[in-house]
Amino acid sequence: MDRVVVIGMGFVGSSYAFGLLNQGIAEELVLIDLNKEKAEGDAMDLNHGLPFTSSRTKIWYGDYADCKDADLVVICAGANQKPGETRLDLVEKNKKIFKGIVGEVMGSGFDGIFIVATNPVDILTYATWKFSGLPRERVIGSGTILDTARFRFLLGEYFQVDARNVHAYIIGEHGDTELPVWSHADIGGRNVFDLADKNQEWNREQLEDIFVNVRDAAYHIINKKGATYYGIALGLVRLTKAILQNENSILTVSAYLDGHYGHEDVYIGVPAIVHRGGIRKVVELYLNDKEQEQFAHSVNVLRGAMGTFE
Ligand code: 2OP
Repeated sequence: MDRVVVIGMGFVGSSYAFGLLNQGIAEELVLIDLNKEKAEGDAMDLNHGLPFTSSRTKIWYGDYADCKDADLVVICAGANQKPGETRLDLVEKNKKIFKGIVGEVMGSGFDGIFIVATNPVDILTYATWKFSGLPRERVIGSGTILDTARFRFLLGEYFQVDARNVHAYIIGEHGDTELPVWSHADIGGRNVFDLADKNQEWNREQLEDIFVNVRDAAYHIINKKGATYYGIALGLVRLTKAILQNENSILTVSAYLDGHYGHEDVYIGVPAIVHRGGIRKVVELYLNDKEQEQFAHSVNVLRGAMGTFE
């Protein structure tokens, strides 16, 4: 029985639960929230939708004891950005919340995989690893999974190609210092800069604008509707599926670097092969000089904002 426990039934947690159900991925889905009534209400509401799906997921609202037999615990709890706030502004507040949550989960006897979605996600993934004592491959952050999807979607629109045929990655901090790996951004085996240089209808400036829109997407959405949740929720569903179905998919998640890309002791967004055991391997793209510099800057910014983990 694949059991997924979601902690934090705000917009992200509840959209994730809805997405899981629609895709029939988990056999058991447990919802936990500080506000028990909210979790109970969500469990009722989602259960009532089950007859419309082809999924037979067993859903209930629970507590930390349910984590004992969980394969996956997905943390979506914590404060989120207000308009004008950066993700890094949330670090101290959410680190405190995480210390409590991770302590409770581990206290149940949990021995599965953590997925972390709360911002600043790279630092909170590191915090989860530290607080849990689990092997690093079993603590995974959503990282730049959504930024990569935004990038692929916008490049797909620009070149009028199915986003699934766009091979491009956003790496680094899930936040203001993330970067596009233009040197490996390919469509149909052609680099997108090369396509832009050789065709009048496209150009590099517009490609750079696409990246800026990706980087700033969350700010635009938060200004318009106060929060972002459908995109990240579907990214979490994708990651869950890659794990539970042992897909060995390459996804840009927040993974622990141990000498990879010349950096160590940091969780940051990089492509990684994801399977039933969590992260099987960090994929090391060959970055050009500029990309290496930008990535090093992103690592340094995260390090500077991390603080301590006691
Ligand atoms: C996002 O990128 C806010 O991190 C969230 O949508």
